Amino acid sequence: MTLASAQNPTGKWVAKYSSDDEAREIVLALNVESGGAVTGYVLAPQYEDRIVEGTATGGQITFVAERDANNNTKRRSNYSAMLEGGTLKLTMPTAANRPPQVIEFTRTSAEAPAPLPPAPPKISLAAPAAVRDNGLARTPPMGWNSWNKFAGRVNDKVVREIADAMAKNGMKAAGYVYVNIDDTWESARDSQGNIGTNSKFPDMKALADYVHKRGLKLGIYSSPGPKTCAGYEGSYQHEAQDAKTYARWGIDYLKYDWCSASRVYAPDAATMQAAYAKMGEALLASGRHMVYSLCQYGMLNVGEWGAKVSGNLWRTTGDISDRWQSMSNIGFDQQIGREKFAASGHWNDPDMLEIGNGGMSDVEYRTHMSLWCLLAAPLLAGNDLRDVKPGILEILTNKEAIAVNQDKLGKQGVRVAKNGDLEVWARPLADGGHAVGLFNRGAAAAKVTAKWSDIGVKGAHKVRDLWAHADRGKVKDEYTAEVPSHGVVMIKIAK
Ligand code: GLA
Repeated sequence: MTLASAQNPTGKWVAKYSSDDEAREIVLALNVESGGAVTGYVLAPQYEDRIVEGTATGGQITFVAERDANNNTKRRSNYSAMLEGGTLKLTMPTAANRPPQVIEFTRTSAEAPAPLPPAPPKISLAAPAAVRDNGLARTPPMGWNSWNKFAGRVNDKVVREIADAMAKNGMKAAGYVYVNIDDTWESARDSQGNIGTNSKFPDMKALADYVHKRGLKLGIYSSPGPKTCAGYEGSYQHEAQDAKTYARWGIDYLKYDWCSASRVYAPDAATMQAAYAKMGEALLASGRHMVYSLCQYGMLNVGEWGAKVSGNLWRTTGDISDRWQSMSNIGFDQQIGREKFAASGHWNDPDMLEIGNGGMSDVEYRTHMSLWCLLAAPLLAGNDLRDVKPGILEILTNKEAIAVNQDKLGKQGVRVAKNGDLEVWARPLADGGHAVGLFNRGAAAAKVTAKWSDIGVKGAHKVRDLWAHADRGKVKDEYTAEVPSHGVVMIKIAK
């Protein structure tokens, strides 16, 4: 190879990656024109990004690529790359708050790659008939999910150890029963089209038995698309078969994540409902009770139809991360107006808990827990429960907060007052009382007042502090408390 071509990134580049026995690859096709303009694409199992503009100078390449998003939109991402000897280091587009992800590619051909053929037409489906309610999750589901802490590093051993820990450390006693495996357990299908597990999960049925023996339940994850968000096998065109496989394994909960479904389905609400209804029906026909968790990031007014496809919960936003900004934005700002869709059996899901993952203070984690309890949100711990600090366990297992979350009335709380960074949220309870959160989103401690008139309460009532676990006597008209920065005082006003 001449020096010129060694410095010219034109060609096909491949990066192989794997967190198990399933080899996956990302293909990067680059074509650098004489003026330095770049065309080509990035092709991963779960997406295709077509380069729309880019430049190469020497070994430095930057480009913008576009893919089909939902809601009829295109999503653009910025990439940058550096040619170093025989390898090309590609910096993947990641959210501003995440560490940059750099992937190394090796060249498999130096020929100018052919352009990517146009994507096949998207499938449109008619709005489905309502799918029967499965009768599950009459109160918000409680348990654990592997993604926030372990992502692709989850395996059989971790899940067994988490189940052991939950059975002993007070989590199970507090009501956390689902042990949910998120993405990256899947292998390719066999010749009959049956989904399998990869080497991280040698025997799913044995794992379910193990979890069940501890009085807990096992959850799993898939996608209505051909590939999951992490690029593993999805359930597209295998919905009924997969539901039967899950039932045979003894699965109790399915999280069904849109991901690559946007590559095959038209981006409209009828089609998306029909895709979710398929799995809703399949689970009902599987012969086993499974909680059905929709994950499509709150698109296309999911609250209006989530229950009609037999969904027990549906995500309302993009992914949470373990930072105050992410959690507080999702919890305080992005749930407003969705309360009308929550009812027994059907819950808004502001995403899994980050409590204990280390990116927030205990004060902030208490706010996280309080908000999720007031919001009637599913409580799925997302930390390593094998090794939890006592303070974190205390937050996760606060029985008085959990009683609010699990309240039989099933009414999602709402913001009843806002004064700058100070917010009061309230939720009516089945016994005629009210749970109230006095929140301070500001940078300094402040006094927050909850006025009875904002909550619809009259006269004097007994007040109990649900974090101090202390009665505060009979209180008339309003309750004021000093609240730390990013903190909460959560009370119950008795009937
Ligand atoms: C999406 C979901 C996450 C997680 C990952 C797994 O990003 O929103 O909760 O399930 O996929 O790949």
